[in-house]
Amino acid sequence: MKGKSLKDYFANARKEKWALAQFNVSCAEQLQGVVEAGVQARSPLLVGTSEGDAGFFTPSLAVNLVAFWKKETDLPIFLNFDHGKSYEVLERAALAGYDALHFDGSRFPLEENITIAKRVVEMARKHHISVVEGEFSEVPGGHSDLHNQEAPVLTDQDYTDSVVAAEFMKKSGVDTLAVMVGTLHGIFKTTQPLNIKRLQEIALRGIQFLVLHGGSGTPEQELKEAIQEGVVKVNVSTDLRVAFTNALKESMRENPAEIAPYNLLPKSVAAVKQVVLTWIGICGSVNKI
Ligand code: 13P
Repeated sequence: MKGKSLKDYFANARKEKWALAQFNVSCAEQLQGVVEAGVQARSPLLVGTSEGDAGFFTPSLAVNLVAFWKKETDLPIFLNFDHGKSYEVLERAALAGYDALHFDGSRFPLEENITIAKRVVEMARKHHISVVEGEFSEVPGGHSDLHNQEAPVLTDQDYTDSVVAAEFMKKSGVDTLAVMVGTLHGIFKTTQPLNIKRLQEIALRGIQFLVLHGGSGTPEQELKEAIQEGVVKVNVSTDLRVAFTNALKESMRENPAEIAPYNLLPKSVAAVKQVVLTWIGICGSVNKI
């Protein structure tokens, strides 16, 4: 698949029923752990930065670090701007050199969401960006370890409506759709089963590339089922943050006098690598470069 776009990888994933996990990072060491796992598993990689991640990282540094690792490893590594809430923020990401854009217009009324998403698609094409992701039904939760809290109880209205999904895709021209079928942002004490039936209904409307947000904390078997039904991308953030930060805290506890980052951070890189290897296994992207 050398020289192929992210959309080409999604097409292949859809055909062969596997998915790319999107690994959200906000520093070079998290990215290093992701890359080391990709090299070991010979998996294509999709890296993401939320507005918060990119605020710390800066879009330009994220693009340049990904470019560095692509050259260094020869792996296909793509960079997506996750949950961009406005046209302007996504235009800045496109100018910086991102490969994919996610316009999260779920807080806008539907028609306004569609209008902005359409403009984002037009702008993205000018920058040769192959994938724009749209969203109109918000995935609840927060990007944190909430394992002391019960998951919010979902009702029928919370799930993505398949008729609206088809209309949204047709009018906006986005390539992929973030759907709400029961995954939640963050890790909660409880989980609810995914609404696989709803996922099937959405896929039956001819929507080719479905995206799940809130990968962390979702039972493995349910994720695998969802991938069989047309999910080509699963976003993962909290798992990587927990792995990175817990390992860093452990390093600091074990070596209270240590001050050199190069002695404190390797454990974090290794912890992220392990989590990423697990996700690559769940999504089935091993040996898909
Ligand atoms: P988690 O933090 O639950 O893995 O969700 C990540 C996500 O959906 C980023 O868009």
